[in-house]
Amino acid sequence: MPTRISRRVGSIAESATLAVDAKAKALKAAGRDIIGFGAGEPDFPTPEAIVEAAVAACRTPRFHKYTPTPGLPELREAVAHKTKRDSGYDVTPAQVLVTNGGKQAVYQAFASILDPGDEVLLPAPYWTTYPEAIALAGGVVVEVATDESSAFCASVEQLEAASSARTKALLFCSPSNPTGSVYPPEQVEAVGRWAAERGIWVVTDEIYEHLVYGDAQHVSMPVVVPEIADHCLVVNGVAKTYAMTGWRVGWLLGPADVISAAANLQSHATSNVCNVAQAAALAAVSGDLSAVAEMRAAFDRRRQVMHRMLNEIPGVVCPEPTGAFYAFPSLRDVLGRSVRGRVASTTAELAEIVLDEVGVAVVPGEAFGAPGYARLSYALGDDDLVDGVTRLGDLIRESA
Ligand SMILES: Cc1ncc(COP(=O)(O)O)c(C=O)c1O
Repeated sequence: MPTRISRRVGSIAESATLAVDAKAKALKAAGRDIIGFGAGEPDFPTPEAIVEAAVAACRTPRFHKYTPTPGLPELREAVAHKTKRDSGYDVTPAQVLVTNGGKQAVYQAFASILDPGDEVLLPAPYWTTYPEAIALAGGVVVEVATDESSAFCASVEQLEAASSARTKALLFCSPSNPTGSVYPPEQVEAVGRWAAERGIWVVTDEIYEHLVYGDAQHVSMPVVVPEIADHCLVVNGVAKTYAMTGWRVGWLLGPADVISAAANLQSHATSNVCNVAQAAALAAVSGDLSAVAEMRAAFDRRRQVMHRMLNEIPGVVCPEPTGAFYAFPSLRDVLGRSVRGRVASTTAELAEIVLDEVGVAVVPGEAFGAPGYARLSYALGDDDLVDGVTRLGDLIRESA
């Protein structure tokens, strides 16, 4: 029997992170006092010089027209230059595809390399979009479970055990959304060497490259393992580094043949990315990194406060996040307790209770393939952060 909505699209789950954020915003709009830890975006405005570049582009007729699908030539060139500056990875402009955010880069990466039935190793907890992008491309997700005992980093042994003759690719994300973990450089190298030996692709997401704290260090896999470059696709964008989530500019870097195939796909899906947004992105990547340094200092302060406060709540265990802007505590010991007369047996239920009772929005671990945990973004104001974690702690302390 034919289905009304195709099986392929009908099986896509709504983005749980966007759903939590939307529910929190709707409650706020209805007058409730809500603290949202759901959003995956900096709470800072886009730096002024970037906005000015967009304003100038609006007034320049050249930017009112269709332009080449893979991106404005000057932006492709600037992204190649920025990549060399920031991670040391040498790419030519022909290896850069400008996309509508890193999200489209993820989608097109998998669409360009997977055939139906190809397996993709996906370390969990994972960002919600990855499994859907893999499945839409006909791929089969093979989850590789990790937990706080390894700081949520998958080992070569775990990857080897999960791989098969059908393994086509590995998704690698460091610094990680949702866990805030950063793989140590030697582990990035070990994983890259293993992938190179096995002859599999690596799709590596570097969107949080500049948001690392303390001793954590971000290294780019194709830089530390150059032999992977011909089978490596790098996802990146301006959203998190320059507080530009709404501008929708990201990019995919990779071997020229894959980039050109992905550009063909994009030419039929979305054509070129909005030129005004590309002009803004050009100003961002051509400028210095002072804005991200300021944001990083604020995130680092909030990270430490959140990490300390969460661990002070009985039953909550939060490993120290070292990258991105997320904490990923275990709430397993809170499950099964009575919270204001309601008992949650899953973190999804607990998140609902927390939102209803104290107006605090967190994203349950189920959204990331990790029941028992929750993701809290610390990309929000310092006072709200303290207020929200205090409310959460007080509610959990009341439980029995
Ligand atoms: C790990 C990761 N990759 C990619 C993206 C995509 O970002 P955007 O599409 O806004 O550029 C996000 C956004 O939340 C993310 O967390």
